[in-house]
Amino acid sequence: MRGSEPSRSAMSAAVARGIHRLWDDPPWILDDPFALPLVGEEWQAFAEQSTALSRPPHQARSGVLVRTRYAEDVLAADAYAQYVILGAGLDSFAWRHPEFLANGRVLEVDHPATQTWKRERARTLALPDSARHVFAPADLARDALASCLTAAGFDWTAPALLSCVGTTMYLDAGTIAALLRTVARCAPGSAIVLSYNPRVELLDEIQRAFLERVSRLVAGMGEPLRSAFTPDEIVRLAHDAGLRAAAAPTHDELEERYLTTRRDGMRLLMIERLLWLRV
Ligand SMILES: C[S@@+](CC[C@H](N)C(=O)[O-])C[C@H]1O[C@@H](n2cnc3c(N)ncnc32)[C@H](O)[C@@H]1O
Repeated sequence: MRGSEPSRSAMSAAVARGIHRLWDDPPWILDDPFALPLVGEEWQAFAEQSTALSRPPHQARSGVLVRTRYAEDVLAADAYAQYVILGAGLDSFAWRHPEFLANGRVLEVDHPATQTWKRERARTLALPDSARHVFAPADLARDALASCLTAAGFDWTAPALLSCVGTTMYLDAGTIAALLRTVARCAPGSAIVLSYNPRVELLDEIQRAFLERVSRLVAGMGEPLRSAFTPDEIVRLAHDAGLRAAAAPTHDELEERYLTTRRDGMRLLMIERLLWLRV
């Protein structure tokens, strides 16, 4: 990110979610009515950038939709009372699911520049505030995640689901290892769903070309990609941190689960891989 400017890759991801309900056929993989209002009037410029990334254009947003949907499905499958969204960007879970806040807490961790901007947008849009929806600013590359969670009132004795999608690729391996070690300190029953970029050798030709276009785009936003792993490398990093792998859904499994009923021809074009790790 550039200095104190908010993350433009976060805006771009939000626009992918927002235009899905505007331009694609239902059923939507994820229905996010807050995404475009949060981005504001610039959303159309982001939408143009995004549709230039793939042919057909709607394919480019499939991965952004699937990664968040998968994390939220893991959350819904268990009785978690704490949902921690790391690198939250313009994620609108707390506003889309006010019922979660009846008994649970949502804690959003993000770079201060992005989070301050998001909160200002939320105020402008008069989105509801809740004492159970907590914003915890942290530069994950510098600040200790544990202290940030404690300061935000995170309950280390209660199971939590953490998610970190679309974010690890902007962090280096050392920062990701530290993050995973903190997750491992959470209460038994806790878990994290994360996405990571695979090493380029693992991609097919179409995915490689897509990755090149995405890399150029985000580097131009001042957010260069910093990490990529083989599946073995990321699982080893997680094991060393004290976590065990619960699931690593493949591209085909995700496509089968979330896209086969689509009538608009959208197929999954996703560079990132998802990994569900348990404490
Ligand atoms: C591509 S966006 C993804 C946002 C959101 N998870 C989503 O899927 O829409 C990447 C996010 O990582 C955050 N990020 C990047 N580097 C960070 C850092 N060093 N500390 C905290 N957050 C960071 C950005 O602020 C941004 O919100």
